Amino acid sequence: SWRMDDFVDEQLAKIRNKCEDGRSVFVLVSGGVDSTVTYALLAKALPPDRILGLYVDTGMMRKGESALVEESLQKAGLPNLRCVDASAQFLGALEGLTAPEAKRRAIGQQFLAVQRDKCKELGLDPEKWLLGQGTIYPDTIESGGAAKKADVIKTHHNRVPEIDALIERGLVVEPLADLYKDEVRAVGERLGLAPHLVWRQPFPGPGLGVRLLCHDGEDDDADMRAKAAQQATALVGATVSVPPLKSVGCQGDARTYRNFGVICGDYGRDWDVLGDAATKIVNESGSLNRVCVSLLHNKAGDAPSFSVSPGGPHTCTSDRFDVLREADAIATQKLTDAGLMRKIWQCPVAMAPLTLNGEKGEVIILRPVDSTEAMTASFYRVPFEICDDIASAIKEALPQISDVLFDVTNKPPGTIEWE
Ligand code: XMP
Repeated sequence: SWRMDDFVDEQLAKIRNKCEDGRSVFVLVSGGVDSTVTYALLAKALPPDRILGLYVDTGMMRKGESALVEESLQKAGLPNLRCVDASAQFLGALEGLTAPEAKRRAIGQQFLAVQRDKCKELGLDPEKWLLGQGTIYPDTIESGGAAKKADVIKTHHNRVPEIDALIERGLVVEPLADLYKDEVRAVGERLGLAPHLVWRQPFPGPGLGVRLLCHDGEDDDADMRAKAAQQATALVGATVSVPPLKSVGCQGDARTYRNFGVICGDYGRDWDVLGDAATKIVNESGSLNRVCVSLLHNKAGDAPSFSVSPGGPHTCTSDRFDVLREADAIATQKLTDAGLMRKIWQCPVAMAPLTLNGEKGEVIILRPVDSTEAMTASFYRVPFEICDDIASAIKEALPQISDVLFDVTNKPPGTIEWE
């Protein structure tokens, strides 16, 4: 019963109404579907001199992404777009942080700071320039909605308290706030945006910042993990290791940070069997929320021992971002070559500061999923030959990588992103 033409007309009227007393709108554009469609809607509703789009290079974008986004937005004919390289500022704000919520919050605040600085530089009156955002429906519920702040484990960057304060003062425009991703794409097509912009895989606002897993350096739950590993191994009849690191996940409604299991050794190669094993472990262990398979330690007798890499705490440094960026680029290229990028809904690539058998310092996690609106998802069954190819290419290119893991958890009980 959702009619797109009505939706577009309604939103154009709403935007014009909100801006009738000479107000203008400032949008942070990322090159993603949501902010691009938001900007295109605003460009249709208002004269060009009353919108301003700013692309921020946070230093946490993927390889080659900034150049690609600048070019495609320019080609799309969207007026008044500017770009700024704020990577030093973002990396500075993340210095020393390891907790996912603290990282998200710092990133959200930097976006606002960059926007404030730009307004000052251009001499824009802050009371006249509203903040435009590409917030969509799931962002709002995942951040806990307005009413249940206490339950929030993951605050999306566009729902930090500073922005909530602006919303209360009526200074924020979010024309897509009631839509799911597939509806946003339909609106984008309707507005004439190029298919490669409309069909890009979703990428979180904090970018690689929430995919570069951190650790405070304390390894203090060894007994609990050994027990969990034993229990999981007994449950599925394959060797399960439990590394000293937590990831976000949910059981029912409660989003929690828990350890994850890695199936190693001779587990056989059948996605259905592995998926069932993951479900069983998460549902019955009570202490693990995610399960991966090791792509490099899958021979009989392979039971690697994971530990936190020495020299912690492990934070968001530009060196670590570079390694993750390269691994992400390799995985993306291989999946593109195999014709899978359009079939996979989203493929996060994450990195964790784990040492394997005391050897090296980081582990890469592949998280391809199938979904329609990100509220539920199932892990995508990438053919094993392609998984092997990706894993060996990553290991070969990046000497600090000791293993490549493939996440076989569905959502629920897991989440798409790792933090
Ligand atoms: P989860 O991990 O909750 O992710 O299953 C659902 C969808 O939301 C994206 N996501 C984010 N997007 N800021 C964003 O703009 C965030 O902080 C954030 N966290 C998750 C995720 O990529 C997936 O598409």
